[in-house]
Amino acid sequence: GKQEPAAPAATAPAATPPAAAVKVYVVGTDAAYAPFESQNEKGEIVGFDIDVVKAAAQKAGIEVKFVNTPWEGIFNSVAQGDRDLLVSAITITPERKQTLDFSAPYFDAQQLIAVKSDSKIARFDDLKKLKVGVQNGTTGDEVITKLQGKDSPNVKRFESTPLALKEMEGGGVDAVVADNGVVVHYVANNPGSKFKTIADSTFAAEQYGIAVKKGNAELLEKINKGLAGIREDGTYTKIYTQYFGA
Ligand code: ARG
Repeated sequence: GKQEPAAPAATAPAATPPAAAVKVYVVGTDAAYAPFESQNEKGEIVGFDIDVVKAAAQKAGIEVKFVNTPWEGIFNSVAQGDRDLLVSAITITPERKQTLDFSAPYFDAQQLIAVKSDSKIARFDDLKKLKVGVQNGTTGDEVITKLQGKDSPNVKRFESTPLALKEMEGGGVDAVVADNGVVVHYVANNPGSKFKTIADSTFAAEQYGIAVKKGNAELLEKINKGLAGIREDGTYTKIYTQYFGA
């Protein structure tokens, strides 16, 4: 007679095998840099960078989680494998490219000077002999170190940019040099500190990139795909407008 197909065994194996653990990429960010990355009242990490990476990751079909990571040591954290990605308003520089790989640029920035409203400082060159606060190891640190010389006692380096700005309230420094977006945000949100900003045409254009460990081409490709995707479908513009206006 003809063979009937075997009936399914009474104890069929579960239809769905136990889900393979989904890889969650750990994203390091120095969350003291509003509006790019900061912690809200609930302790959640929020900001423009966070929204961009979340949207790009979704496009790329990968899972991410954000971990607050002090700027000092942030680059090492990815080299050592404690973090898979970094998003932290990081300027792509030739020097950093030697130890990290960067995504396509996702934001244009420039240095900006913050001074007290009644200050006579008018341009970057005026800062040659004055006390200037910067976040240690940032591109703001680089420009002022170049202007004053690397052994200048007048460059005051802080762990975070808000700390440098806070110092200026008490008169500890005469000026702060930092990324425009952060300076503008701070001045607008701290009217009590009575600061104004000074742009200077001698500052170079900077671009932010998302960083991975040097050689991690697979993850970089995913991120770049995600970034391209959110540019194409309008998500990037939506996020940009939400934080910086049209
Ligand atoms: N764009 C500047 C740099 O790359 C400052 C970035 C600081 N970012 C931060 N989240 N603290 O040096």
